This record gives sequence, C-alpha cells and structure tokens, in this order.
Amino acid sequence: MNLKLVTCNAMPPAAAAAAAAAVLFCSLIISVTSSVSYDNRALTINGKQRILISGSIHYPRSTPEMWPDLIHKAKEGGIDVIQTYVFWNGHEPQQDNYYFEERYDLVKFIKLIKEAGLYAHLRIGPYACAEWNFGGFPVWLKYVPGISFRTDNEPFKAAMEKFTKKIVDMMKDEELYESQGGPIILSQIENEYGPMEYEIGAPGVEYTKWAAEMAVGLETGVPWVMCKQDDAPDPVINTCNGFYCDYFSPNKAYKPKIWTEAWTGWFTEFGGAVPYRPAEDLAFSVARFIQNGGSFINYYMYHGGTNFGRTSGGPFIATSYDYDAPLDEYGLFRQPKWGHLKDLHRAIKLCEPAILASDPAKISLGNYQEAHVFKSNSGSCAAFLANYDSHSFAKVAFGDMHYNLPPWSISILPDCRNTVYNTARVGAQSAQMKMTPVVYDVGFSWQSFNEEPASYDNTFTTVGLLEQINITRDVSDYLWYMTDVKIDEDEEFLSSGNYPVFTALSAGHAMHVFINGQLSGTAYGSLENPRLTFSEGVNLRVGVNNVALLSIAVGLPNIGPHFETWNAGVLGPASLHGLNEGRRDLSWQNWSYKIGLKGEDLSLHSLSGSSSVEWVMGSMVAQRQSLTWYKATFSAPDGEEPLALDMSTMGKGQVWINGESIGRYWPAYKASGNCGTCNYTGWFDEKKCLSSCGEPSQRWYHVPRSWLKPSGNLLVVFEEWGGDPFGITLVKREVGSVCANIFEWQPTLVNWQLLSSGKVEKPLRPKAHLSCAPGQHISSIKFASFGTPEGSCGAFTQGGCHAVHSYDAFERVCIGNNSCSVRVTPEMFGGDPCPSVMKRLSVEAICS
Ligand code: GAL
Repeated sequence: MNLKLVTCNAMPPAAAAAAAAAVLFCSLIISVTSSVSYDNRALTINGKQRILISGSIHYPRSTPEMWPDLIHKAKEGGIDVIQTYVFWNGHEPQQDNYYFEERYDLVKFIKLIKEAGLYAHLRIGPYACAEWNFGGFPVWLKYVPGISFRTDNEPFKAAMEKFTKKIVDMMKDEELYESQGGPIILSQIENEYGPMEYEIGAPGVEYTKWAAEMAVGLETGVPWVMCKQDDAPDPVINTCNGFYCDYFSPNKAYKPKIWTEAWTGWFTEFGGAVPYRPAEDLAFSVARFIQNGGSFINYYMYHGGTNFGRTSGGPFIATSYDYDAPLDEYGLFRQPKWGHLKDLHRAIKLCEPAILASDPAKISLGNYQEAHVFKSNSGSCAAFLANYDSHSFAKVAFGDMHYNLPPWSISILPDCRNTVYNTARVGAQSAQMKMTPVVYDVGFSWQSFNEEPASYDNTFTTVGLLEQINITRDVSDYLWYMTDVKIDEDEEFLSSGNYPVFTALSAGHAMHVFINGQLSGTAYGSLENPRLTFSEGVNLRVGVNNVALLSIAVGLPNIGPHFETWNAGVLGPASLHGLNEGRRDLSWQNWSYKIGLKGEDLSLHSLSGSSSVEWVMGSMVAQRQSLTWYKATFSAPDGEEPLALDMSTMGKGQVWINGESIGRYWPAYKASGNCGTCNYTGWFDEKKCLSSCGEPSQRWYHVPRSWLKPSGNLLVVFEEWGGDPFGITLVKREVGSVCANIFEWQPTLVNWQLLSSGKVEKPLRPKAHLSCAPGQHISSIKFASFGTPEGSCGAFTQGGCHAVHSYDAFERVCIGNNSCSVRVTPEMFGGDPCPSVMKRLSVEAICS
C-alpha cells in the first residue's frame, strides 16, 4: 500500500499539464489502495468523500472516567473526529520505561472513540508544543549524549523514530488504523516545524524530509499531515493552524485544505487575564474556511481540560487548560459556544453534497460582501453569503431574493435560497455557571506541618551557582541554593539599621529568599519574561548567616528555537551591597544544593507518607506561614456535578487529593491585562477578549469526581508563601442561569426545512428555548424583554423599546420545569412595542 503512495510521491511536480495528470494518477492510486485517501477537495474514507469536523481532546487532560462523556458530547455537537497529541513524556517518563495506564491509556481512549462511532486524528509528533511540559519531550532526552532537538541530529532522530514507531506499532497491534477497520484516519508527524526550519536553515530542511519519509515508511495506511509546514514533502499534507485559515492553500493542487488547529480560545497563564473567543467569530472563521474550499476543520481545543500534576509547560502556564473550548474544563457544555457550533455543523452538513461536488464559485455582492456558490451536476446547490464589514449590516441581492447580513457574518443557504444559519445569529441558549460551596457541618479540619527551610542534610556542595534543570532533572519544581554569609561585629549597618541589599539574578521562574530560616522576600517572572531579579534589604546578624534560596520551576518551556537549552534557576550573579567592604560577590563561594522539599521526600501528599510526620492541630495550625503543608480529610459531596477547590485565600503551591496531584495553584498571581468590552466583529487575536483582570488568573482547581471515595478523602496542600487554609472550600460547578437572545425572524433549522420543502412560503417566528441541567428546574425569570434589550446573559438591561408583558409567557410556561420554549412573536408579549424596528428577545431564567 505504502509503496504505491511512494510511487505517487515520486511524480515530479512539473508543468501544469503534467501536474494535472499527476493529480489524476495520484488520486486513482491512493483511492484504490488505501481506505483513507485524499484529493484536492477532501479526504475519502472507504470510498466516501467527507467534510469532516474534528475536535481536540487531549486524553491526559481529563480522566478515563470522563472520556466517554466528553466523546459523547463531542459527537452530539456534530464532531466526526477526535484529535489528540501523543504525550511522549507521559508515556516514557524514564528512558525505556513505558507507561500507558490511567490518564495515559491511549489505546483505551482511541477505542472509546471508535465505540462512539467517531474517527481519530493521532498527532504523534512526538513534539507536541501544546503548553505541555517541555513540549511533550521527556527530560531525559535532553541528556542523551550529543543530542540536539528537532534538527538533523542522529541521536534525536533515533529517539524520535523509536518512539514514533512504538506508537504506530501499538496502534497497528490493536488494529486501530482505519486501514485495519479502526478509527484512526489521519496522523501527524512533528508540529509547526515550518517556522523552526526557516530559522535554522539547511539542517531543518533535511530534518523535515527525514521526518516525512520516516513517518510514511511506517506504513499506517492513512495519510500523514504536517501542520504549518509549507514544504511538507509528498504525500504528506501540509495544514494550517490559526484563528482564521481561509486564505491557506496546501502546497500541491491535489492536496485537500485542512485546518488542524482552529483556536476556540486561548490558554491561560499565571499572571495573565483569561482569554475568550466569541462564538460568533469562531463560527464565522469556520464558515469562511468551508466557503473557500476547506474540508477538514479541527477545533483546538474542543475540550481543553486540566494540566494535572506538573504537566503544564510554558513556563507559567496555568493548571486550567480550559481554553474557552465548547466543552469547559469540567466537561460541561459551554453555552452558547457548543450549541452555536452544533448548529453550524448541521448547516455545513446540509451543504455537503454540493460542496464536495464542485469548487466554489466566488461572486461579488458588494464592497465587503461575497457569495460562494457550490453546484453539483445533479442539481444540488449551496451558497454562503458573507459580509466582511465589521461595522454595518449589508442588504445583498442573490438569486431573485434579498438577504440582510449582520456585520462580520456568513449566512448559509443549503439550497441556494433559504438561510438555515447565520454565524452572528445565535439560536443556542447561553448559560451562566456558578460555583456553589459544598456545605459541611464543620469546615475542613486542618492540620499543619512546617517544612523547614532546607538544612544542610541531603545536600551536596560545590563552588558557584548551577543551572536548575541540570540538577533536578525536573523530578521536583524545587531546588534549594544555600550558602553562608559571615558578618563581622564592626559592620556599620548593624548600628545604622540600613540593611545590606541582597541581589540575585535567576533565569526563572520564581524564588523565595530565606535568611536564617525566615522568609525575607519573593520574586517571580512571567511567561513573557521568566527571568527575575531579587533585590531587597535583608536582616543579617553578627556571625554566620544562612542564606537559602528556594528556586521554583513553573513548567518547562514548550516552544521556541531549541527550548531544551533554556535555563532555569539562580545563575547569578548573587551579591550583597551595603557592607563595609561595599559589594560582596557571593556567586563564586560554596553553595549547597538540595533537590525538592523534605515533604516531597516523605511523600506527605500520599496516605502512607502523610502519617510519617507529626502534624499540629487545632489552634496550633500554622496560618499565613511560608513553607507549610496542610492536610484535612473530607467526604465526597452528593450528586454528580463536577467539583473544584476554591483556593482564593492561598498564595502559591501545589495540591493533592488522595495522592493524585490536582496541579500547581497560584491565586496570588493576579491577572494583568486590559479586560474591556469585547465585540465579536473584526479580526480576533488572543489579546482581544480577556476576563478576570485584577483577579487571580486561576481561582478554581478541578477535582475529578473519580479521584474521590465516599469518605475519608485526603486533601493535602503545600503552601510556599503563606495563605489561609480555612478559606479553602470545595465547590460544585452548576448551571446558575440560562439565557436566550433571539432576533425576530432569525433563521432556524425548522424554518429552513419547512421553506425548502415548500411546506410554508413565509418563515415562522423562531422559538426561544431554555433548558437547565438535568435534575434542575427553572425557579424564576430574572429578566425578559422583547424589544431592544441590551447586554448579554447575566447582565441584560432593558432598551428604549420593551413589551410590557415580556415576562408573562415565560413565567407561565417555564417556572417549575426543567426546560421550556416560547415563540418570539409580538402576540406572546402583549403586542408589538415598536413596529418597524428590528426587535429581539432577551431572557434569563434562574436554574435551581
Ligand atoms: C500552536 C501549537 C499548539 C498549541 C497552540 C497554542 O501553535 O501547535 O500545540 O501550543 O499553538 O495553544
């Protein structure tokens, strides 16, 4: 099978005529020899050409218990394919020591995808990027002699090939490729290597060729892609990643246009505001891609999930990898995004026969307006009417009809006549989530244990300051740097009180300075600049002072040229100013090192380890003290709602439940950024729409239900800085309220079906649907206005035009029910409050 693919490769891309012949030849060969093939329009699976909607769900970012539900909800949302990276450092934590259990049970994950009747796109990489620790590479890889990552380097290529082959063989053994009847229809080698290749030149070009050949040589029977790689060698398909990809075209006329990462939002960093992307703009970008001939789109992320443990990269990537994805971190629907995309997918699928039968014809409808029309020989016709104007509505003529297009939107007409969907008209309900504290008879009953600043046990001493990762090999975030400073009796500062200033430069990422066992100060960097300088007066006394620096890594870098060479830790110089001698350089004196914390050595986070030390209780429990371990036990709350810990009263540290790491927490790092209002119109980028400015970048930390037993759950917190553990609460994530925000005459699927089948001549009014989560009911109507209301779910306000009976219908049909619907027609609200004005209905219902 593969031999034939290679034959196809070997076709020289020559003149246009030869190329056209090659196209024909290639598609013939590929389609008869493999169950997954491609041509310029799309992938063909078992003889059927498909428009495919895909969504990224990274298996270690949720628990195996969550997987079936996530996959099911993706399917319900109109997803055909689940895409995931393969996380090398999770699978081979020590060299030749493999792990495929629990959250890393890749085979189970892929089998669940198959069971759900979906396809899989396996991005083996093995470089992932993905805001994942070290981009997915195991740290031991850095210490393979002679290695240089992601370039034409033999040790690297050998390791990469070995792991890639291991995964491919594993998938083959389990018959998971589509060519074997399995769900995997597509694979990826490398990740966004194009920009890197551009930077490093010739060895990069060689490496690209090698990677493609190596991958194709593994004979999976399904195509490979390389994303952001314009020179992807045949038959590997080069694909696009970005917020928009409509202008992208693959490097050969016979390759389909694939969007491997349609960013649904963006990641959160500690210290940064929380990004979000309006559903209208995301839907607009997808419709743009499809109307321009795209046939495979993958949402990155469809479910972002959680960076449990120390898996987040960066540095400074937050523990939450929510990503503003259609399924939120906890696996709940993010509305209206999930629903609006579901409606979009249905609209696209209605157009699929026409789309696949032809290339789009573009017709100008105005300065900023276009129609993209697909017509098949058998008479099917689909049209996309686009208004790129980000400020104004456009009235356009198409066929013998007129259409009103909202700004920055696309209307989809699966029959070239009736609109089934407009990207800026959200029919799906919105939901406001709430975090409800679980009420226990008594709160957490904490015990504490003090982690003394490292003494000189279990240490080694050497001259000078050492790079952190070389020492820790990332087995812990923490590395102690300790030295002695001798102060003579005649130092002037002793009488003047002008303490000497201790200055230390660190390559990152955070550092606490302890002088004679007391926390003296803290400094930390940021994702943009992980470096830090500590420079503060320190309280030294006559005699020998112990200076102990706790240097903390907050995730290893996952991106950038040769990120494996980036340093962390106190590299110096380190010095004291303000002594009688002026400046004393401490950089080249003896420093002692200790990897990790004492509590880590003792496994205090685990059930067995936590009983190995004496904890203090009651009024003795440490509060607002640095380097403190806390533990408490609790019972699992009733119900099935996802759970989280509200850590807002804490500073910085790590948290575990029953020995499983929930991740790093850092609510003391407040989000900087500009959180103004955000309009869906106009080009989106990751800085455009932000929330949580001035608040913790991450306040809540997901506690998977499956990690809990009914009672006696052990909660352990390690606080570096000082916090109030009595403020920690367990919360349930629930739907607080649901909203509809519907324009009169907004297109709907029902209307389209009635109109296109000729059952009605004029559309019906749309309906507003409200639906609380299972087990909840609508307890009150917080807001309802038919007219010109403003604002968004949770913050609607009445506009100049308002029907006085707006509430009545909802109060009548909704209260007490789990869901309800009301037709958005003036009669329902006591008549038209402002004829000839375009009206909408905004309603918010409280769920209890
Ligand atoms: C892409 C990369 C992904 C992820 C994303 C940002 O460039 O391929 O792995 O890092 O950026 O979330």
